[in-house]
Amino acid sequence: MTEKEVKLVFKELGIDELNTLQAGLFNKAKEAANTAYSPYSGFSVGAACLLDTGEIFTASNQENAAYPSGLCAERGLLFYVGANRPEATILTLAVAVKSKLKDPKKIYSPCGGCRQVMAEYQTRQSSNIQVMFEAGNDKVLICEKIDDLMPFIFSF
Ligand code: THU
Repeated sequence: MTEKEVKLVFKELGIDELNTLQAGLFNKAKEAANTAYSPYSGFSVGAACLLDTGEIFTASNQENAAYPSGLCAERGLLFYVGANRPEATILTLAVAVKSKLKDPKKIYSPCGGCRQVMAEYQTRQSSNIQVMFEAGNDKVLICEKIDDLMPFIFSF
């Protein structure tokens, strides 16, 4: 038996330490949370991504009375970008939460299903996608690649 380790690397920054581009993208994600349709969970999520074309796209979670039919903000965004900018490279993806349920001290990282989709878009474009999300206490976590969010990504 060999015990092995996986190293995940991420940065923790104060919101005030973000550069102009990062702060702008993060604000876009927060704004996008206002467009969420989340009557069932009361949990609104916004996502924004910056492409190598300089364009920024946003999306939010959209729920449905048939619960599994809803979709997370991140996946809605990635599928939209995949369909509308298939040649573009996604540089950074920011995720923000707006909710009465929000605990200001908690980390809100992307769910596993979204990580899997992020991973495949990263592989498809052959370059890393940086992901930024809220870490509570006015902090932001930044992963430089999806592998740092999810090791053992499924592929075949
Ligand atoms: N949600 C997202 O939009 N992104 C995530 O990464 C996790 C969860 C949404 C799905 C659902 O509409 C609500 O948040 C509560 O789970």
